[in-house]
Amino acid sequence: MCGIIGYTGHLDALHVLLNGLEQLEYRGYDSAGIALFSSGNDRFIMKKAGPVATLKDACADVDIISHCGIGHTRWATHGGVNDTNAHPHIAGKVTLIHNGIIENYHNLIERFGLRDSLVSETDTEVAARVLDYYYKGDPYEAIRRTTREITGSYAFCIMFEDIHDQIFCVRNVSPMVAAHMKDGSFVASDVTAIIPYTNRYFVIPEYQIVTLRQDGISVQDLNGNPVEPEMLEVSWNVEAAKKNGYPHYMLKEIHEQPDALRNTITPRLNDGLPDFSEDGIPDRILSSCDKIAIVACGTAMYAGMVGKALIEPIIKIPVSVNIASEFRYENPLVDEKTLVIVISQSGETIDTLAALRLSRKCGARVLSIVNVKGSTIARESNYVFYTHAGPEIAVASTKAYMVQLASLYLIGCRTAMVRGKFSESDARTFISRLMDSIPAVQSVLADKDRLKAAASVLAKAQDAFFVGRGLDYAFSLEGSLKLKEISYIHAEAYAAGELKHGTIALIEENTPVIAVATQDKIYGKTVSNIKEVKARGAFVILITKENAEVSEDISDMHFTVPVPYDQFTVFPVAVILQLLAYYTSDMKGLNVDKPRNLAKSVTVE
Ligand code: G6P
Repeated sequence: MCGIIGYTGHLDALHVLLNGLEQLEYRGYDSAGIALFSSGNDRFIMKKAGPVATLKDACADVDIISHCGIGHTRWATHGGVNDTNAHPHIAGKVTLIHNGIIENYHNLIERFGLRDSLVSETDTEVAARVLDYYYKGDPYEAIRRTTREITGSYAFCIMFEDIHDQIFCVRNVSPMVAAHMKDGSFVASDVTAIIPYTNRYFVIPEYQIVTLRQDGISVQDLNGNPVEPEMLEVSWNVEAAKKNGYPHYMLKEIHEQPDALRNTITPRLNDGLPDFSEDGIPDRILSSCDKIAIVACGTAMYAGMVGKALIEPIIKIPVSVNIASEFRYENPLVDEKTLVIVISQSGETIDTLAALRLSRKCGARVLSIVNVKGSTIARESNYVFYTHAGPEIAVASTKAYMVQLASLYLIGCRTAMVRGKFSESDARTFISRLMDSIPAVQSVLADKDRLKAAASVLAKAQDAFFVGRGLDYAFSLEGSLKLKEISYIHAEAYAAGELKHGTIALIEENTPVIAVATQDKIYGKTVSNIKEVKARGAFVILITKENAEVSEDISDMHFTVPVPYDQFTVFPVAVILQLLAYYTSDMKGLNVDKPRNLAKSVTVE
């Protein structure tokens, strides 16, 4: 949420910042801005409401030589979307950009008598003014004193008017990474912005002040003691963060799913069985817990819903799925005997992070399923299960969901083994079926054109319903989220048997109903529910297994998945639902990769 980039070095700073902002735009795209020191040491600011492209246009004729600057792309929290509220904010000698929320900004306005001097409606400008108040020529002293005043989350990138070639950074909760290479020093909200220059970076530690100079980066704690940051390496390259000929990142990422599944599953197989010794995850955390609590937000939470529906019946202990933003405020039933599984693509979602911290405080062991290496959630968990999806740029998550599912399947299988619920042969069969899901995903991708016809029906609709039972219901939740996120069609997922208790009142002539019916055990019951909506005029898009017996009168369009086993249909079904959402959004001419009001990494509460 909000993207930050800063650079000082030999390169053209304007170019570096604008390119970096384009890479970070998925973090927020209400407005964007930059601040630079010109070669004559003047301060130059440009900020514009709208996407980074608007800022780029505004900078097209800017004739400035600069080697030091900061840039920001905003997801508005305090104050509307306009040029004035866009970052950077200037206060006296201070130029500042910020990701996070200053919770006590009202108090600070009173305490520092700022009411008449503020020009924007943002909490960020308040922080800039407090910093300027304390700045008497010593940046470290000013930053120290300001951070003592502030409560909330922040990643700040600061330039001082009289220090022309340096950038100062400090953070609490909100993420920020830094890197130095021969062309200079970089800071960014995440590695996607610096990967064109280097693959070695470090995560800026909380409450430490980082100084970017042309010839290096120094880190010190708030008492001025030098700190040696831990260097990390990105395992993917700049090509992985490009569209590679696809019209949208989302479509590219949907197509990357077979590889992502392979990359996540195969390194964890030893003689056909799941083995987490390389991850440092001991069996005892899986065998000794008496319940599992899965905690996550958005798509990651829906992956958790599938995980629960899969794992609970196998291992026969309670598995709960919790919305992270609720979990932290509801006195959760978590203790030393609970294994908390936190799921997060970014590893930075603040609600999920807060739930993790609460779980640890309650004595639970936390195993996180995370995609971004070195992220805060990964660092604060007891154990980390990294998914190897590579960078996911589209705001709507696809391949990260797929590998989160695969991770839960692996964890479920290993847990069943160590708890004596699976024999070695059961586990082997389970894993071989999991591996067979990969070609099934591939085959849906190879036959996607027919989905466009279904999408053309959805594109005309105002509402759509997703129905299924058991595991199918869990898949439907994510299908419905995908459609509403990127096509702005009101979509709801219902357990098919529950429709008749209210929702069926909403079904009218031609209301699209996407019915997922891949579970043999309850297939007949689901078909009855489908007939109930069909009888009321619904346009039914049906998804079943290939071998299902389907009478023609229950659907208007029918798609099948080449998987014979109930537990494994989710993988190809997910692709069908993702593609339906993708084509619908594209047909409506919407911004598939950057849907309105959303951001990929939600680092505010
Ligand atoms: C945002 C994104 C979703 C994502 C959710 C959780 O809402 O738009 O796509 O599923 O955050 O993100 P995480 O990084 O924790 O998986």
